[in-house]
Amino acid sequence: MISDLQIQELCKAAIDIRKNCYAPYSHFLVGAALLTSGGKIYTGVNIENAAYGPSNCAERTAVFKAVSEGEKDFVAIAIAGGPAGGDVQYCPPCGVCRQVMAEFCSAETFRIITARSAEDYQIHLLREYLPDGFGPGML
Ligand code: THU
Repeated sequence: MISDLQIQELCKAAIDIRKNCYAPYSHFLVGAALLTSGGKIYTGVNIENAAYGPSNCAERTAVFKAVSEGEKDFVAIAIAGGPAGGDVQYCPPCGVCRQVMAEFCSAETFRIITARSAEDYQIHLLREYLPDGFGPGML
């Protein structure tokens, strides 16, 4: 479960970390904050590349940071995205990030929070963003 206070903290972390985005090509800044079942928060930003293809989304940066530190049990992720110098929008995760989340998170319980501020956010289950997803249970 996740409390309102944790949701607000997660949204704030996703918004604050946008200062570290590396997005010189799209100028679209995305921050993510991933909550583990142990209560730790791992943040991530989008990191673009001159060759475009190797670019990484904020959500995957957060997941990969956490997994590389030994974490595999996640409760929720907050996402905050918007153009540089503009307003933060409700920013849904891209398809690749949804699939990466499905590798580690239960579609029935994992919450995806799209944040415009710490008080203005929407919450969806992973299942809603990735119904009938292919997951590790199928192999
Ligand atoms: N981006 C993310 O980081 N997360 C998303 O869920 C959507 C898109 C990034 C990728 C790219 O650096 C920029 O936003 C524009 O697509």
